[in-house]
Amino acid sequence: MKKLLILFAFGAFGLNLTGCLEETVTVDSPEVDGFSNSFSLQFNDSEFEALSQSLEIDQAITMNSVEVPLHIGRSSGLSTVDQTSSDARKALLGRVLFHDTRLSATGETSCESCHKQAAAFSDDVAFSNGINGAVTKRNSIALGSVPTFSPVISGYGSSGDEQTARIEGDVKFFWDERANTIKEQSEATIQDELEMGKDLHELSRELKEQEMYKILSMKAFGTTDLTPDRITLALEKFTSSIVSMNTRFDQLRDQQVLGVSSPGSFTEAELLGSELFRNSCSSCHGDEMGKPRVNIASNGLDEVYTDKGVGELSGNSWQNGIFKVPFLRNVALTGPYMHDGRFNTLREVVDHYSEGIQDHINLHPNLKGNNSQPRRMNFTENEKQALIEFLNMTTDHTMLVDARFSNPFRQ
Ligand code: HEC
Ligand code: HEC
Repeated sequence: MKKLLILFAFGAFGLNLTGCLEETVTVDSPEVDGFSNSFSLQFNDSEFEALSQSLEIDQAITMNSVEVPLHIGRSSGLSTVDQTSSDARKALLGRVLFHDTRLSATGETSCESCHKQAAAFSDDVAFSNGINGAVTKRNSIALGSVPTFSPVISGYGSSGDEQTARIEGDVKFFWDERANTIKEQSEATIQDELEMGKDLHELSRELKEQEMYKILSMKAFGTTDLTPDRITLALEKFTSSIVSMNTRFDQLRDQQVLGVSSPGSFTEAELLGSELFRNSCSSCHGDEMGKPRVNIASNGLDEVYTDKGVGELSGNSWQNGIFKVPFLRNVALTGPYMHDGRFNTLREVVDHYSEGIQDHINLHPNLKGNNSQPRRMNFTENEKQALIEFLNMTTDHTMLVDARFSNPFRQ
């Protein structure tokens, strides 16, 4: 497989295997030897007609090319990252799966129920509605910034190999980082009895019967055999294709880091907020709003945590109160905040860091002062506003309405 990939990965062959003149066949990852039509980035007319009965999608699958902001490109050596044809075809299948309520046992939830595009793929309630009246135990996590960092922007240019390695370097998934990959996360979520409650093998058997999924699976994998593995891989490719790097924050960083003059100018408050963030927040969350500098930590929400986070999973008390350091891109849209959605607004979050940090035994050193006491930041009113305005700059307005991520089902 790897060898074939090297042979084919860079060649977009203009083969014409179907007799249809407009059709360009891109052979970049031949999962099934000898099967070629599935690698076209275009559905043929009869496929398209069949799909159009339930879906509103284009006949051609568009590949995404992401311009990497300079400040991120500097460390990754990348200026643009192009999705491979293989990834684009799988991501389309993933998009349909992501919005399909058949993924839940009762038909009540799709991934999108708890990861809403308008909310940067998070939910607008502290605990999301699952199936049979259940609610989730933790706050939904925004997906829009999952792949936003170096060195390889995940999901792009990767091998298309079904055993995709961890795509986020050492960033893991869920509040307690119990999943190593999005694939693993999806397996857990689909089968979680509160969230979707569906057996993956049963799901695979059901979807394989659907004309729509036969076509999409053929296109993505060159086979109609939509196995559990392929379902979760497609979901991973979709989730990883959601990138949010088109923000005012990125313009500001380009200017700060590389002196690139920016199309817009920045307000005093935004510049002050940026300064405050660098002094008080980036030691954990990172300067580039990409990969955090500290992966997991306690930020002192409580003296005694009800949900012990990583400690709950491991049983080690020295990990109590420790949670994933979340990405902050699009944070203005992803409230309520924290693992339990305890804060409704960014103002409440900033108040926490300003006056509310608790002296938990595992409180991270970055939030402690010289005397080992909680380092409450005591921001002035002006500084609080500034921080909030700065955080608002991380909103990627294009991602929120990007049709490649939207619900493809005819309503
Ligand atoms: C019923 C609501 C619900 C549904 C349905 C749901 N999720 Fe989630 N999702 C959550 C919650 C809650 C979390 C955080 C859970 C935790 O950390 O324990 C989460 C976490 C995640 C994460 C981890 C993000 C990170 O940065 O750590 C990913 C990725 C994800 N979900 C993708 C999906 C996909 C793909 C689907 C569909 C197969 C899906 N979710 C369905 C509620 C949901
Ligand atoms: C010690 C590392 C650390 C520092 C420093 C830190 N944070 Fe956090 N931050 C975290 C952790 C860990 C969480 C998740 C905690 C939880 O849910 O239990 C978090 C959560 C957040 C959230 C909630 C995001 C969401 O999606 O729910 C926001 C917003 C936030 N931090 C902003 C800030 C700001 C602003 C600062 C500086 C004033 C800051 N953080 C400093 C570790 C840190």
